Amino acid sequence: MNQRPMNQHMRPEPVPFIDLAAQRRRLGKSIDEAVSRVLAHCQFINGPEVTALEAALAEFSGARHVVSCASGTDALLMVLMAKNVGPGDAVLCPSFTFCATGEVVALVGATPVFVDVDEATFNMDVNSLKRGIATARQRGLKPRAVIPVDLFGQSADHDAIGAVAEAEGLFVLDDAAQAFGATYKGRNIGTLAPATATSFFPAKPLGCYGDGGAVITDDPALVEILKSLRVHGQGADKYDSVRVGMTSRLDTVQAAVLIEKLKIFADEIAARNEVARRYAEGVNDVAVVPAVPDGLTSVWAQYTIRLKPAAREGFAAALKAQGIPTAIYYPKPLHRLEAYRRFPVVDNGIPVTDQLAEEVISLPMHAYLDAAAQDRVIEAVRAALKP
Ligand SMILES: Cc1ncc(COP(=O)(O)O)c(C=O)c1O
Repeated sequence: MNQRPMNQHMRPEPVPFIDLAAQRRRLGKSIDEAVSRVLAHCQFINGPEVTALEAALAEFSGARHVVSCASGTDALLMVLMAKNVGPGDAVLCPSFTFCATGEVVALVGATPVFVDVDEATFNMDVNSLKRGIATARQRGLKPRAVIPVDLFGQSADHDAIGAVAEAEGLFVLDDAAQAFGATYKGRNIGTLAPATATSFFPAKPLGCYGDGGAVITDDPALVEILKSLRVHGQGADKYDSVRVGMTSRLDTVQAAVLIEKLKIFADEIAARNEVARRYAEGVNDVAVVPAVPDGLTSVWAQYTIRLKPAAREGFAAALKAQGIPTAIYYPKPLHRLEAYRRFPVVDNGIPVTDQLAEEVISLPMHAYLDAAAQDRVIEAVRAALKP
């Protein structure tokens, strides 16, 4: 009765875009036990796992301090608050990013000034940054900070950006929401700027089972302020507010989950790199594959290829028919979003960003994509793009 008629079209089993269930199976009892320990001790806010995780993340990154918080967005926001960035200040950031990068600037009352990205790496173009600083000044704004984004899992050119920032007196806040675990010229994300924000959103390379984030820094004075900000600006005493803050702690349960996930993170990064290597080998003659400059490693938050704009829609449909999901990050750069259209763009425009928004498409990417699934993706991409 349950048998399919012989001629019924068999839909191929979908390939997961990100496979949290496979990771969950691998972690198995270790996560159950870690969460059970929190349920037993009941210190749900700032429990011992939070401190232990912060120490483990600091060790992993090689930075001195990690201050965990409720999300990657809050991590960015709290650093801007700590640095007293506000009205009249300009913060230079790319437009080709997730909205949170610009959102936090607007939330503190400062002005995001959008600059262009490099075509090959999708990350901030340093010449555009220089020009953006001039644009900000022409508009009567005071350039205070720059937020380079390490998009899709790969570091921006921090040496070049840091040099411009130093010459111009700007604070660098690294938006590494997608790139914790990546390296730049032998240095880890978290040590490339005076402050780095990351996200533990479940889909991130290192994600928890809800929202979470952290600031990574070597600066003890910043740490003190961040620890105060995440608890309503508290001072020495719990009910002594010394600044306007917020509620932004990482739940102890999420810290417990992250401690277990961090144990397998290096292995997962290696697996993601193997997927990326196979993809590049398999499709580099039919699509523009992502470039990782010499001396950098990526954690492949996304594997993003570029197609001719006219081909993208048909490509996504062709892959979907084969059970292969795709996603577009980001179809609208920030300067084209309703909420951010009013903010300035560098005065010579951001043509690369506009072009990338028409061309990019991301393929399934996670550490549990086996060789057979990789081959299916590669074959489907090749079939969809064959001349
Ligand atoms: C580049 C970038 N910045 C900031 C964020 C914000 O992180 P969260 O979602 O944890 O607030 C994200 C992730 O969503 C992101 O991709």
